[in-house]
Amino acid sequence: MPNIRTDIPGPKGKAIVEMDDRYLATVTKSAPLAVERAQNEKVWDVDGNLFLDFASGVAVMNIGHCHPAVVKAVQEQAAKVMHFAGTDYYYDVQSRLVERLAKLAPGAGEKKVFLSNSGAESIEAAMKLARWSTGRKQFVAFLGAFHGRTLGAVSLTCSKRVHRAKYFPTVPGVTHIPYANCYRCPYHLEYPSCGLWCAKIFDEVYLDALLSPDEVAALFFEPVQGEGGYIVPPKEFLPELSKICRSHGILTVDDEVQAGMGRTGKMWAAEHFGLSPDVTCMAKSLGSGMPIAATVFRKELDWGVPGAHSNTYGGNCVACASSLASLDVIEKENVVEQAARKGVQMQKRLEEIKGRFESVGDVRGLGMMRALEFVEDRRTKVPAVKMRNDIVSALLRRGVIALGCGKSSIRLIPPLTISEENLDTGMHILEESISEVVKDRA
Ligand SMILES: Cc1ncc(COP(=O)(O)O)c(C=O)c1O
Repeated sequence: MPNIRTDIPGPKGKAIVEMDDRYLATVTKSAPLAVERAQNEKVWDVDGNLFLDFASGVAVMNIGHCHPAVVKAVQEQAAKVMHFAGTDYYYDVQSRLVERLAKLAPGAGEKKVFLSNSGAESIEAAMKLARWSTGRKQFVAFLGAFHGRTLGAVSLTCSKRVHRAKYFPTVPGVTHIPYANCYRCPYHLEYPSCGLWCAKIFDEVYLDALLSPDEVAALFFEPVQGEGGYIVPPKEFLPELSKICRSHGILTVDDEVQAGMGRTGKMWAAEHFGLSPDVTCMAKSLGSGMPIAATVFRKELDWGVPGAHSNTYGGNCVACASSLASLDVIEKENVVEQAARKGVQMQKRLEEIKGRFESVGDVRGLGMMRALEFVEDRRTKVPAVKMRNDIVSALLRRGVIALGCGKSSIRLIPPLTISEENLDTGMHILEESISEVVKDRA
């Protein structure tokens, strides 16, 4: 399906890349790809090259690019009223969206919703809400976590040194503890004979020797670590931590920004672990490309004092319309079931690929949130960083857009609505690209 006719970037793309590099602040930039249009899993660049999207605009386009129902809802809303400050006034699309999210979010009981514009903002709101409602000041997060880049959120983020370097002092009172990564166990133990030490250590060591439980407002976690390398914890890890938190009155904050909205084959990744978090943060695919985020929390935690937290753009009319239409598509097209089914297909292909290449140390994930980790040697597990980067470049040259994560992993996150045929094609191109790079190194 992909059709690559020029270098990437081609002549038109090159002009855009040059102007962008000249004026846009230094950000992340993963590839010199200048997009012109996109439809579901297909992406055309300005030079007429056709790609398959296995990155989904960094986990935003779960229902595919420019879904017609979402485009229609956005166009209709834009023609009526684009913005009216939902924090100060009222309108139907916002009320309907918060009702729906309050009912849809994981966990029992009645909930309320704070709307904002990005994943980081949804985390900021959770931090402020946790301090406000508990009267406690401190937070716990995980090594390998990514919760965003604003100064509050980056205080929790801990997946790459570059995210935090030179920003000290960050928010004080954040303690990072190791996440459960069975492929690279921080305690060099084996699951299940480890007895889940990675969870128990929180109570038996951290809350005993370092932190007074009654000073800890909340534990922030990703049910599957995203930027940190698509790490899926063993099934008892998060339930055990939730139990410990509950026993000390520590709130649990579930960051579903990347793993939510059906990506893992359940609407929320927390459902895989039977969790009932106090607060859930969502963004990315919530708006299918319109910037919108939500912090959904147990009703009793609400600020209750006007002005204690608010913003200008949260609940923007067009973003709410986009989000409502996206939720309709997820329901009507059984998108969550699609993700569960196609995820099995992906894992099967990944296992085959692992069987063929020594350099693939691990393949993992849930639903259509999958990754493979490259190592220099399966025994020493030294991360093969250059190999991973070369494979991502080879994929692009062959027409598949993919992103790295962790030190030496590639994440595979096509739209959940990708055709099975194109999913197979993408997995085949992945195998070819690995073969090209690994052969080059031999
Ligand atoms: C799990 C998680 N939380 C929070 C964020 C921050 O989201 P944003 O970039 O929209 O601020 C991200 C972004 O990648 C994320 O993956």
